[in-house]
Amino acid sequence: MPRHLLHEPTWHAAAVAYYLLHTSAEPSVQEEARQWCEKHRLLYDSFIAQVEEAHRAASVALHHAWAPYSRFPVGAALLSSDGALWHGCNVECSSFGLTLCAERVALGHAVTNGRREFVLLALVTDTEAPISPCGACRQLLHDFAPHLLISAEGARRQQRTLWWLEELLPEPFCGKHIWKR
Ligand code: THU
Repeated sequence: MPRHLLHEPTWHAAAVAYYLLHTSAEPSVQEEARQWCEKHRLLYDSFIAQVEEAHRAASVALHHAWAPYSRFPVGAALLSSDGALWHGCNVECSSFGLTLCAERVALGHAVTNGRREFVLLALVTDTEAPISPCGACRQLLHDFAPHLLISAEGARRQQRTLWWLEELLPEPFCGKHIWKR
C-alpha cells in the first residue's frame, strides 16, 4: 500500500499508518505514521475500534469452528467498505477435500448479504504464531479486495501480524486475464 496515501484523511490512510507503525523498522517512516495519527486522531481511533471489533467477531466465529478432523479451529471476520462485519469459521467434512476455510465462509456470508467490497480481514487461531490465509483463500479474497489489509492473531491475543493481500499474493491471476485475451 503506497505511503502517499498518508496525505489523505481516509480509512485507507489510517490503515497505512497502522501498518507502518506495526511493521516498519525505519524511524522516519514511524515518525511520519505517528504524525498522521496525531493529526487525524478521531479517524485513527475509529479505525482502531473497527480493527478490535473485527478481531472480536473473528474470536466468536473461532468458537463455532467445526474442525473435528484437524482440530485446527479458525475464525475470520471481513470488514466491508460500509463498515459491517461478516464472520465465518472453518467447516470440515469427513471427505476432507470438501472442507471450507473460515475466510471463504466469511466471504460467502458477506456476498450473500450483498457486500462485495472489503477493507480488512481479521483472522484468529489458537496457534502459537498467527497464520496467514491459505493460497486458495488468497485468490478468492483477491478477486473481491486486492488491497485488503489482513490482521492475524494467534493464541497470544493482541500480538498480531499484518499483511497487505498483495504482499501474500504477488502476480495474481484475475478477471482481466479472462476478459482481455
Ligand atoms: N483453514 C482455514 O480455515 N483457513 C486457512 O487459511 C487455513 C486453513 C482450516 C481448514 C481446515 O479446517 C483446517 O484449517 C486445517 O487445514
